[in-house]
Amino acid sequence: MKTILFTPDQIDQAIELLKAGENVIFPTETVYGLGADITSERALQGIFTAKGRPQDNPLIVHIGHFSQVQDLAFDIPPVAFRLMEAFWPGPLTMAFKKKAWVSDTVTAGLPTVGIRMPSHPTARTLLQKSGLFIAAPSANPSGSPSPTREEHVLEMQGRVAGILLDGACEVGLESTFLDLSTTPPRILRPGAVTYEQLKPYLPDLEIYEGNDHTASPGRRYKHYAPNTPVSMLKGEIRDIRDFIDQHPKACFFVGDSLYQPKENLIRFIPQDDLMEAFRQYYHLLRSVDGHAEHIYVPVLSEQGLGRALMDRLMRSAQGRIIDLTKEKETP
Ligand code: TXA
Ligand code: MG
Repeated sequence: MKTILFTPDQIDQAIELLKAGENVIFPTETVYGLGADITSERALQGIFTAKGRPQDNPLIVHIGHFSQVQDLAFDIPPVAFRLMEAFWPGPLTMAFKKKAWVSDTVTAGLPTVGIRMPSHPTARTLLQKSGLFIAAPSANPSGSPSPTREEHVLEMQGRVAGILLDGACEVGLESTFLDLSTTPPRILRPGAVTYEQLKPYLPDLEIYEGNDHTASPGRRYKHYAPNTPVSMLKGEIRDIRDFIDQHPKACFFVGDSLYQPKENLIRFIPQDDLMEAFRQYYHLLRSVDGHAEHIYVPVLSEQGLGRALMDRLMRSAQGRIIDLTKEKETP
């Protein structure tokens, strides 16, 4: 397949392709998305083919106008409108009961649909000008890191009809996924809109940690796995500094400034700048292969933005934590 590359001043051409039932990759503030008009079954199928994505993993629908929520969903609780006002456009996806016309291909047969209004200016123009409902998963082959830079999506050439390029993504981690169709409401995936920010609106808010496929289909699949192994480190500052000294070919990604590693270590971001860690995360997973033998990250506090970063790190580490206080690896 021939892929046409677009710049933001060629949005109209990208819209034409989408309206013709083709797949177009576009930037959002979180990660690049692989888009399809949800009224085109051919385009929806194209997403699954281009990504090698399992059919039973549902898609998020992106909108540019608030009124489109009621076109897609019903039984929307009043608090949802306050959340929209506070966090949209932005990195928050909310799931509601879906209307009958919304294709089961979008929702993988689930009764709910996840909806998000992205804030990225190019995504906003694309959505507002077209008036389309655009289903878009992260624009990576299934199981590899999400794309946050132009060079990452250029790897999808040949798999989609168009790619709209517009630099690096500001946030860098996928949106917070909030399921408002259940009582109590639940965060199915943490992101840049934090539990602490949502809690005042939703006093009984929970964070879903289970593995039930119907509740949270995405959790079943192996996600975000780089080739370079990732391990989390648990221990006192002194233990971690000693460990760093003993592992010169490793990459230490984010942590206490007191760990500030030596120059032979590849990348380090102080933990008081988690937004920067978000932005760099998937690029790190892609760029470190062949340069480092192992990525090590001290266990972070699961508060605020730390929760989303720990979630992605623990997936990349496949749960591996090295307990330096005991000097043994726990499975
Ligand atoms: O930031 C984002 O959300 C990006 C950009 C492109 O918007 N999109 C994204 O899509 O991360 P994707 O498909 O890579 O991840 C969406 C996750 C999947 O784990 C999927 O299973 C889950 O959301 N999901 C989608 N619809 C759902 C629903 N109705 N109920 C429960 N989980 C749902
Ligand atoms: Mg994804």
